[in-house]
Amino acid sequence: MILVTGGAGFIGANFVLDWLKGSDEPVLNLDALTYAGNLENLASLQNDPRHVFVHGDICDRTLLDRLFAEHAPRAIVHFAAESHVDRSIHGPGAFVRTNVEGTFTLLEAARAYWSGLPANAREGFRFLHVSTDEVYGSLGPYDPAFTETKTYEPNSPYSASKAASDHLVRAWHHTYGLPVLTTNCSNNYGPCQFPEKLIPLMIVNALTGKPLPVYGDGLNVRDWLYVGDHCSAIREVLARGRSGETYNIGGWNEMANIEIVRTVCGLLDALRPDPAGSRERLITHVTDRPGHDRRYAIDARKIERELGWRPAETFASGIRKTVEWYLDNPAWLANVQSGAYRDWVSRNYAAREAER
Ligand code: NAD
Ligand code: TYD
Repeated sequence: MILVTGGAGFIGANFVLDWLKGSDEPVLNLDALTYAGNLENLASLQNDPRHVFVHGDICDRTLLDRLFAEHAPRAIVHFAAESHVDRSIHGPGAFVRTNVEGTFTLLEAARAYWSGLPANAREGFRFLHVSTDEVYGSLGPYDPAFTETKTYEPNSPYSASKAASDHLVRAWHHTYGLPVLTTNCSNNYGPCQFPEKLIPLMIVNALTGKPLPVYGDGLNVRDWLYVGDHCSAIREVLARGRSGETYNIGGWNEMANIEIVRTVCGLLDALRPDPAGSRERLITHVTDRPGHDRRYAIDARKIERELGWRPAETFASGIRKTVEWYLDNPAWLANVQSGAYRDWVSRNYAAREAER
């Protein structure tokens, strides 16, 4: 079986669902169920013996040792993390704990287990670390896209904690020989994304007639990838990536935030017209994020050249699927917008002045 950490979160849940669609190899899913973890994402697997869920923390070494001994996974796909930049600005401690200390603890438990395996199992074992393009820092408008050899220049507590975890993973390969793979992916969107990130937040606010808070001038650029494409890339890297290598994953789809917000408005206007008029009327420029990275762009030629991977979705097809999923799943949306969610919204947005 494979061990997936953070498999109740946005990308992890999509990965587990896709994995079990294409394979009968069981998944041991370890997740602490923080505010971002949601077992409803995995409801379709409730009675599926191929999915074994464990409610636990990647910082818990005793638990990790027991899970390795009991389940003998042949690989780890490590998603578990604190993942939201704005939350990392309000409270960086949780990011250092889970992303740095948690990855360290998982590496140490994996190393202890892997060291005791017979030679052929040791060779085949893989620790795949899921990371982000944000570790590379911010690009100017004419800079080339990030390659795997770009220097690390993280700017937020989130990206700094992910950069630290990438360095630990690299060192555990070079020093101890642990067979690791690292993927650095651009911004994902798709079903089950928690509505604190740009796209689902805009969908939720637009549906309820609330302001659509665009930070600063709205011209910050991200490279957007449909989550299903990220999952297929991870499967390829796990199956055929070279041990010790890193692979950048991206959608070849750079867009400014304001274009994303307008696209979401246009789709909602078409699929669920609002008698009050186009949702674009709700767009509100608000105080910028401190240290806001201007542009990310991924050069994904290495994964294409070595593993033949390219994204299957265009932005047009992926965003349509995404908006339709949120329209089709009002109960999921209502459940995640609990009291704790409302507290976050008021903490992050109440202090931001509307500009213009
Ligand atoms: P998410 O915040 O939706 O989910 C994170 C999951 O990890 C949750 O289920 C949470 O309960 C779990 N978790 C948190 N702390 C834990 C702990 N201490 N022990 C065990 N489980 C814990 O995140 P996501 O967007 O699905 O991102 C998954 C991974 O992909 C992260 O490592 C993130 O850095 C990386 N990534 C995300 C994006 C993106 O656009 N979302 C892009 C590139 C890379
Ligand atoms: P986000 O989804 O938080 O991802 P990241 O910061 O990891 O790239 O934000 C994507 C972009 O959208 C980023 O430039 C910040 C911007 N943004 C807004 O303009 N308004 C919002 O309410 C949010 C959450 C993000």
